Amino acid sequence: MSSHHEHSVRHVISKTHGAHVKWSESYSMKIKEIDDQHKGLLDFVNDLFNHVSGSEIMERAYFKSVIQQAVEYVKTHFATEEKYMVMTKFPGYLQHKKTHDEFVLTVIQSAKDYESGKRFTLEKLAYFLKDWILTHVAVMDRQYGDYFKKIASRKADGKLSITKEDVKNSDV
Ligand SMILES: [Fe+2]
Ligand SMILES: [Fe+2]
Repeated sequence: MSSHHEHSVRHVISKTHGAHVKWSESYSMKIKEIDDQHKGLLDFVNDLFNHVSGSEIMERAYFKSVIQQAVEYVKTHFATEEKYMVMTKFPGYLQHKKTHDEFVLTVIQSAKDYESGKRFTLEKLAYFLKDWILTHVAVMDRQYGDYFKKIASRKADGKLSITKEDVKNSDV
């Protein structure tokens, strides 16, 4: 069997396999609480891809069963980041929080639109969330990640610890 043939067989079996996201150390903010939440978000996106079946009825039922919990998870994550940003006096806080708030509203509005009959495909939604999350982590979250790195002290395991002392001693 040629490798080309093997590739196309795999492609048919799992249409969205290549779309799955894998955690990479480059996404790490070196804060376990935040890294764990980002991993949880990527798991959620991968679960969406796993449930792409092409049956709108099944995909809608799945979406309905997970959306509320997902929104709560996202809100908790954003609140965690905002807590760190306020605590460390991160200068980009207001702009970052605005982006979070707008994203939550977009997701809630989309869920309402689907509820009221707007055409729905889980794959499109999964791609939208994947792109938004990865871009947000790589660009905006990275900004506070770099800021934290500047002001925090490093523990023996390489993780960062942000204490009141770190904030007080920072010259930024
Ligand atoms: Fe984040
Ligand atoms: Fe964020």
